[in-house]
Amino acid sequence: MFSSLALTLLSLASAVLARPQSYAVWAADSGIARGQGNGLDSSGKPIVSYEHGEFQWALRQLYERTGNRTYFDYIVKGVDNIVFDNGTVHGSYTLTDFVLDPLRTGPTFLYLYAQTQKSKYKIAADTFRSQLNAHPRTAQGQFWHKLKYPNQGWLDGIYMGEIFYAQYTSQFQPSNTTAWADITSQFQLMFENTVQNATAPNNTGLLYHGYDFSHKAVWASADRGHSPEVWDRALGWYSMALVDVLEIIPSTNHGHTVILNILKTLAPRIRDAADPETGAWWLVITQPGRAKNYFESSGTAMFVYALLKAVRLGLVEDKDGSIVTAAKKAYQYILQNFVVANADGTMSWLNTVIVGSLDTTGDFNYYVSQPTDVNDLKGLAAFVLASLEYEEP
Ligand SMILES: *[C@@H]1O[C@H](CO)[C@@H](O)[C@H](O)[C@H]1NC(C)=O
Ligand SMILES: *[C@@H]1O[C@H](CO)[C@@H](O)[C@H](O)[C@H]1NC(C)=O
Ligand SMILES: *[C@@H]1O[C@H](CO)[C@@H](O)[C@H](O)[C@H]1NC(C)=O
Ligand SMILES: *[C@@H]1O[C@H](CO)[C@@H](O)[C@H](O)[C@H]1NC(C)=O
Ligand SMILES: *[C@@H]1O[C@H](CO)[C@@H](O)[C@H](O)[C@H]1NC(C)=O
Repeated sequence: MFSSLALTLLSLASAVLARPQSYAVWAADSGIARGQGNGLDSSGKPIVSYEHGEFQWALRQLYERTGNRTYFDYIVKGVDNIVFDNGTVHGSYTLTDFVLDPLRTGPTFLYLYAQTQKSKYKIAADTFRSQLNAHPRTAQGQFWHKLKYPNQGWLDGIYMGEIFYAQYTSQFQPSNTTAWADITSQFQLMFENTVQNATAPNNTGLLYHGYDFSHKAVWASADRGHSPEVWDRALGWYSMALVDVLEIIPSTNHGHTVILNILKTLAPRIRDAADPETGAWWLVITQPGRAKNYFESSGTAMFVYALLKAVRLGLVEDKDGSIVTAAKKAYQYILQNFVVANADGTMSWLNTVIVGSLDTTGDFNYYVSQPTDVNDLKGLAAFVLASLEYEEP
């Protein structure tokens, strides 16, 4: 009687995923078990999706850390769902829509080309690169976030476009000084047009979500046309782009210094904007503690990743250790509040806001009225990245 019960329990136990030691592994395996980020949408149709690109970026770091081929194979499967054997990118991608978001899968194409030398990945990357050559820009040269948002630069677009642009330049045109200067200018223009002025109410010195160089959007400020609030995930994307691009742009290039200075300016300000009690970051960073505002998980994970990586690479000095302390405190908050164990051995990820767009009012009420979701890949992928940094041996 007892032994058959024990046997039943044993076989039950082996049917569930063993809980890995590493949160990076646990989160990645859970996402993979759910089929997330595999180049297909929820109805199984191919989709070129920036959050898949973000997850692939995380899986690639995990593959390089662990040497476990499972992660590499999953990336290949995901890309092969959106790139035909002849290199044509499909899955609702239309170059002439001029949207930066899809380009976030481009770094994966470039990585797979470097790893496999299969020309289909190079052809796919060339298609994305040709989009950039024709992409509409503001008079100052900033890529529009989308053709349908004329003259608007959004922080999100830096993560979507510039890592691909930089990686492509590094692999195929390393001496294209025009390209390096252009990439640098994308970061710089975004910073200058969105950084909060010292005179602004609730000044954090951080970056507003975006700006409209033509000042036509309803939310455009009178001075630089910036949007009214600092949204955590937009700044999260930008911060991750800063630490990632500095590994790609040659340190001898002037742009490296320019981008590094932006990171050095922002890192302590991000640290200081964390909630002093919990260590997490508010959804709307400019309105701490206001009713309906809350601690948002994707932005918080992105900041942990960016801060830890900035210090680990020696890009930002942390003489008193306060940046790492802040990041680690936030990470503990994440583990206690955003990570839950499921009965099947996987984990779930909570509290990521689904969307934040500048297509309406861009005000406080807009951001706080957007729903959150469980296992949103934008947040889960950022958690894999944050965990990789936290668990760095
Ligand atoms: C690789 O990762 C998968 C998913 O976590 C795991 O099932 C497998 O045991 C790992 N393989 C090795 C060789 O560690
Ligand atoms: C590439 O392959 C796809 C799928 O087989 C096909 O539909 C498409 O016409 C091909 N494109 C070119 C340029 O050959
Ligand atoms: C270098 O980059 C610029 C800017 O993206 C581009 O217009 C140009 O075609 C590139 N040069 C070469 C040789 O590909
Ligand atoms: C904020 O700073 C920018 C850049 O220095 C400047 O162009 C703008 O006029 C300032 N706006 C206000 C309201 O002070
Ligand atoms: C400043 O922050 C407080 C506290 O979150 C908030 O109630 C107020 O609306 C903010 N003011 C502005 C102008 O954003």
